[in-house]
Amino acid sequence: EKGGYDHFMLKEIYEQPRAIQDTYRGRLLADQGLVRMAGIDNHLEKFTNADRIIIVACGTSWHAGLVAEYIFEDLARIPVEVEYASEFRYRNPVITPNDVVIAISQSGETADTLAAIKLAKEKGAFVFGVCNVVGSSIARETHAGAYTHAGPEIGVASTKAFTTQITVLTLIALKLAKEKGVFSESEFHEMLTQLEGVPAKVERALQSNDLIEAIAEVYKDSTNCLYLGRGYNFPVALEGALKLKEISYIHAEGYPAAEMKHGPIALIDEMMPVVVIATRKGHYEKVVSNIQEIKSRQGKIIAVVFEGDESVKELADHVVEVPATSEPLSPLVTTIPLQLLSYHIALMRGCNVDQPRNLAKSVTVE
Ligand code: F6R
Repeated sequence: EKGGYDHFMLKEIYEQPRAIQDTYRGRLLADQGLVRMAGIDNHLEKFTNADRIIIVACGTSWHAGLVAEYIFEDLARIPVEVEYASEFRYRNPVITPNDVVIAISQSGETADTLAAIKLAKEKGAFVFGVCNVVGSSIARETHAGAYTHAGPEIGVASTKAFTTQITVLTLIALKLAKEKGVFSESEFHEMLTQLEGVPAKVERALQSNDLIEAIAEVYKDSTNCLYLGRGYNFPVALEGALKLKEISYIHAEGYPAAEMKHGPIALIDEMMPVVVIATRKGHYEKVVSNIQEIKSRQGKIIAVVFEGDESVKELADHVVEVPATSEPLSPLVTTIPLQLLSYHIALMRGCNVDQPRNLAKSVTVE
């Protein structure tokens, strides 16, 4: 049932080109210049009239929510707040009937997310679910929703659920951008075409597997690891760090690259690998200077760059190239090498990749 792969996690990492396609199939209609999603179409005014969108989720799904925050604000110009479901529900949050709440959950059973939904409903908000498991509690508890269609995710570490959640949220943001007139017809069409090109780019990113395995060999005995990114790739840094800690038990932290000088830079020495996502459009020069700061303190740089990069290549100890995308779509591609890196490191450390200690696939306790 692992389809020839050694672990579910690896199988699910490799399924991503297909899973992303399955997620936008029938929804992304580029030739008709249309995004069709029943859950949105039937409640369009709720979204276009919303004062703001509040996203609630936990773990990896929360990271997908952070990516969505950038996409919704950047493309659709709707204010977004992203909340840990567990904090949101215990904080007496200000919610009104003019708010739209989006709950993101692979399993659809996460207790804190479910409780946050119930609270938001009590306060009169419209609640929209982005779930993977069909018929799950969250799918049933929300007013409307869109499934991710990633197929079953068995590995405890979430991979294809993350990229398909981002795919659904991107479709929604694009639709709203068009609906609100923020996007012209041609801009909209251009983004739809680019999104259709993502699965092939993910496929290419997967081809760096052998290179990443060699990098994993170098750093498998590290005790700490830092992940840095800016803009759209800041949540990718957080997700990369979470993936590494949960399956390899190496302590890892994700940071917005510019925050490094406000503290974490003190940690850097020759023992510290730093994974930097340095895509060309995402404040590239700033990230290059962050890399120089790390180098001058003997830190080791593993850089994820767009194909054809020059500046970072000269500075980094290891470079993983992924196909270039427009910045809003880059997390779908830059996250792939980070998933593979944590997989290989965990494997080399003899960890149970699919069932890491202390973790469960769905967290039904609060
Ligand atoms: C990370 C992971 C967890 C889940 C979190 C939310 O790899 O698996 O952090 O992302 O427990 O789960 P769902 O999305 O099912 O609500």
